[in-house]
Amino acid sequence: MSTLIANIGELVTNDPDGTGLGIVRDAALVIEDGEIAWTGPAAKAPAADAAFDAGGRAVLPGFVDSHAHLVFAGERAEEFAARMSGRPYAAGGIRTTVERTRAASDDDLRANLRRLIGEMARQGTTTVECKSGYGLTVEQEERAVRIAAELADEVTYLGAHVVPAEYQDDAAAYTRLAATDMLAACAPHARWVDVFCEEGAFDADQAREVLQAGIKAGLAPRLHANQLTQGPAVQLAVELDAASADHCTFLSDADIDALASSQTVATLLPGVEFSTRQPYPDARRLLDAGATVALATDCNPGSCYSSSMAFCIAVAVRDMGMTPAEAVWSATAGGARALRRSDVGHLTPGARADVHVLDAPSHIHLAYRPGVPQTHAVWKAGVQVR
Ligand code: NIG
Ligand code: FE
Repeated sequence: MSTLIANIGELVTNDPDGTGLGIVRDAALVIEDGEIAWTGPAAKAPAADAAFDAGGRAVLPGFVDSHAHLVFAGERAEEFAARMSGRPYAAGGIRTTVERTRAASDDDLRANLRRLIGEMARQGTTTVECKSGYGLTVEQEERAVRIAAELADEVTYLGAHVVPAEYQDDAAAYTRLAATDMLAACAPHARWVDVFCEEGAFDADQAREVLQAGIKAGLAPRLHANQLTQGPAVQLAVELDAASADHCTFLSDADIDALASSQTVATLLPGVEFSTRQPYPDARRLLDAGATVALATDCNPGSCYSSSMAFCIAVAVRDMGMTPAEAVWSATAGGARALRRSDVGHLTPGARADVHVLDAPSHIHLAYRPGVPQTHAVWKAGVQVR
């Protein structure tokens, strides 16, 4: 079964052999067996079993949201309101969600995860990374990664999110647990290991202990780095060849240099700075130095309860020095790099058929019309989900 998407005004291919967005105007594409079979000028489109008229709209690869925390219960709207009247964001708020999550049933967690992944798909997000980190016991973390693996594309073990209340006076013992029994229970369900390396969470030595154990268990590292302070986490991410250093809000020149001369992607999460009233990360500085930048939502009930990649793009363009083209690339191909995936984030033959038809004539409208729903149709792996 093949489907022709015809009458595309602007096709963003992100062709890895080209530069930037690899735009083709007056284009068409063909989906077959869940993959992109053909892209090119509309006039040369081959015949297919079914056709969809894009009506001159822009077509993009589905968004790749490479950083989200979606296995949780409850919400923290009051904490957000308190921040907006001056209270700072602190890692400790995570414990509120830990309490609610521990008390929830498997089915409640699953339903909430399904709701959020559906919300993302309706906005054009077709690849979702999902972390654990609100369980913080062996059983609860195992449950979180197991449920995440049922629905998310990429699963990350984040047992080292914060030290839970019951280990308050023995962070070393909790770190050991996260690097041994908890890791062993979670590794079969996950591809990635992550640590929140920050004041109030885990220091560099503790983060290294968990990440190196994770690597030994067959997981690949990624890191919450330099979100609240100019700490050691970006350097640690590069040292361990992490796929991604996420947040990157407070960076020294040495951090920028380290990222630029590595394979580690700098994943920026502007919804967090919006929702915590922090300064935005400086994407321009990273790009000018030659670093690879991804954009992601960090969707979670604490630091950013938004699942909107379009919102991240708009903020990145307005306040972080990115051009619309750079921001759209970072939200698609950049996210794929941050997950070391070559099958998503682009629309060239052989890619997974993750197709986002915008209700707009160009990708620029994502930043130009902030807050306006602009998703017209979405295919994930060749199946129309909207
Ligand atoms: O990426 N920074 C650590 N973890 C999340 C926040 C989680 C929460 O506040 O519940 C983040 O911002
Ligand atoms: Fe996060």
